[in-house]
Amino acid sequence: MKNIDPTETNSWQVLKEHYNNLKKFDLKEAFETNDSRASNFTLVEDDFYVDLSKNLLTTATRDALVDLAEECDLNGAIDSYFNGSPINVTEGRKVMHTALRTPLHKANDHNSTYIKQALESKRKMFEYVDKIHDGTLTTYGGNKFDTVVNIGIGGSDLGPNMIYDALEAYHNNIKVHFISNVEGDHVEEILRKLNPETTLFVIVSKSFGTQETLTNATTVRNWFTDRVNPAAVGKHFIAVSSNVDSATAFGIDKENIFQMFDWVGGRFSLWSTVGISVALGVGTQNFQELLEGGHSMDIHFQETRFKNNIPVQLALLTIWYNNFFKAQSEAILPYTQYLQKLPSYLQQAIMESNGKSVDRNGNPVDYQTGNIVWGEPGTNAQHAFFQLMHQGTKLIPAHFIAFAKAKYHHPDHHNKLMANFFAQTEALMNGKTEASVIADLEKTSLSSEQKNKLRPFKVFKGNKPTTTILIDELTPKSLGKLIAMYEHKIFVEGVIWNIYSYDQWGVELGKNLADTVLNDIESQKSDGHDASTTALLMQFYSKLS
Ligand code: F6P
Repeated sequence: MKNIDPTETNSWQVLKEHYNNLKKFDLKEAFETNDSRASNFTLVEDDFYVDLSKNLLTTATRDALVDLAEECDLNGAIDSYFNGSPINVTEGRKVMHTALRTPLHKANDHNSTYIKQALESKRKMFEYVDKIHDGTLTTYGGNKFDTVVNIGIGGSDLGPNMIYDALEAYHNNIKVHFISNVEGDHVEEILRKLNPETTLFVIVSKSFGTQETLTNATTVRNWFTDRVNPAAVGKHFIAVSSNVDSATAFGIDKENIFQMFDWVGGRFSLWSTVGISVALGVGTQNFQELLEGGHSMDIHFQETRFKNNIPVQLALLTIWYNNFFKAQSEAILPYTQYLQKLPSYLQQAIMESNGKSVDRNGNPVDYQTGNIVWGEPGTNAQHAFFQLMHQGTKLIPAHFIAFAKAKYHHPDHHNKLMANFFAQTEALMNGKTEASVIADLEKTSLSSEQKNKLRPFKVFKGNKPTTTILIDELTPKSLGKLIAMYEHKIFVEGVIWNIYSYDQWGVELGKNLADTVLNDIESQKSDGHDASTTALLMQFYSKLS
């Protein structure tokens, strides 16, 4: 990939000037003066209808942003991404999670070793899952498994956990739990729900060296052997890892270790054998459909002109707000409880990838990179933080995501949910003028003094940008497509910001720091730290005794 400082490009200068001219841009007026604004800025890809028209942009903005993508050689970068060039340069790795989504029936169309490796590992996983479902593989006592516990953290937890929850309507009779945090109380609360005799434990760790996961796995294994039989570990514990030696040393049978590859980053690994808990909980057919959805977004991303390319346009808008409007964050608002974990999943995917301050030449950047993402499902979110979105001082571009069809037939609920979904983006754009506040107040019996006092508090400035993503229905396929859409958005942002999106040195540092403090805690030592940390450690020890 080329190392191009985006701020040195012509299009960046054009965008800067354009931004200065656009400061007075009024969304409401833009719709009033242009009948085709909605259709001009809407992208349709099969079951995805992505409406960008309620954003602070004109066709000139879009053209300049597309020029920026071209000047930063996004086309060349996309080729490198899909052809397996080692674009994770600081770790010397390829970034090939897209290979994991190649459908089984395309196996023979491809010669790529990676695609073949991915398909082979997937085939082994599907065989195993099917055997658990049909009862060919049984518990130590010869019964069917009815529970699975996924033990992993970060990418080895967030993706599978989010997908499993999102596909609740597709759950089969195997219940899946997730243990991630090293907090003993969290582990205990899950263990209390389990029957060890019918539970399968899946230890997911690419490195098989992560402190949290190994601590949790060891506690769980001890709990299990105390209740069943040490000889049962082979049947009840499996692993997903690229470190076969450590997984074997832990006591996992070699044939029960599902391979992860170093060419797939943890936060992009849900498509791999890391998804085994999901496949166990929703079945292999639904898992395949998830992959198909991801693959169809890969094709859209690779083959669609930037102007109509959904991930490209979403990424360019993020850059527009982040670097020109100086917006610091972006809200992700799914109007469905099924996607409750989507914002936290995306926090890792987006913020671990693009939270970088050194460019691809190794120089500190002097422009903003990775934005902050956060969110909650609507309508709950409306009763929590929407006040700040409507009347606060910050610019928060937001993604509103909803599904036209609900899973179950409750039209009264669904109509109300969708009414809120549409009404909010309209209200954020239109706001409420002083004149309309006055008109409303006139209808009340308040005194004119009270009316005057209240007036400023009831005005909404409006002009708040939103993107609406309306999808036909939440299915494994549309979910796969949605996740892949965000993955490619992350990639495009990283290319334009000229940073490396696929390493995570900041998190690695945290892992080492905790080890040092752990040694101190184990020997109740408090010196050798700053005064604040020393006092905190002493306070902690005093509470323990
Ligand atoms: O959070 C840092 C990280 O390295 C993630 O990228 C990864 O998903 C997570 O730790 C867990 O790592 P592992 O799968 O090796 O246990």
